[in-house]
Amino acid sequence: MRIDIATLFPEMCETVLNTSIIGRAQKNHLVEIHCHNIRDYSPDPKHHRVDDTPYGGGKGMVMQPEPIWRCYLDVIAQSGSLPYVIYLSPQGKTLTQKKSLELRERPHLFLLCGHYEGVDERILERIVDEEVSIGDYVLTGGELAAMVLTDSIVRLCDGVLADPECFENESHMNGLLEYPQYTRPEVWQDVPVPEVLLSGNHANINAWRDEQSLLRTQKKRPDLLEK
Ligand code: ADE
Repeated sequence: MRIDIATLFPEMCETVLNTSIIGRAQKNHLVEIHCHNIRDYSPDPKHHRVDDTPYGGGKGMVMQPEPIWRCYLDVIAQSGSLPYVIYLSPQGKTLTQKKSLELRERPHLFLLCGHYEGVDERILERIVDEEVSIGDYVLTGGELAAMVLTDSIVRLCDGVLADPECFENESHMNGLLEYPQYTRPEVWQDVPVPEVLLSGNHANINAWRDEQSLLRTQKKRPDLLEK
């Protein structure tokens, strides 16, 4: 899978993309991620301008369409493929595990990060396939949302986690929250690990985990059960 990220602040993304599981996935050539500074595509050679005041008046600045368009064309030329374009926006559909599972099947994604008051509507109409939000709150730009989306997709790609079981039992994979986890020591501050987990009886352990998953979902996220 290839992911191209178009942003005015690539430095916000680079540490995240080069650390931990995403960094390792790139080193192992399981995913290819490229950040592009939209400013490099400005048609204004002197000031590298990428934004301007909104027509009709109003506060703030709007990102101009041409630098984004040029960045998009360059990505197509570099990669030789037409990416599926996602605009990170509080107006998009809220990201879910189901959406990440769907997006991991796309061979090439182009994530567009807006900033300031937004992006000229004409570029959105021209290139964007889908808008994605990471929740009903407003961030200063799409970069953090693009990192959340990238992380949630990359960890689902083949070979990225050592064992697919790593995510198969996770919260949200089956509509339920994950069961509680314990590690050494067996007793910590007088609190013992549940006995069943020490029993070695895997049928009992699985039954306990299923039950715990359901109980926790009832307690912490009853809305998931209603769905
Ligand atoms: N850009 C600003 N706010 C956002 C949000 N909640 N989700 C995705 N992109 C955003």
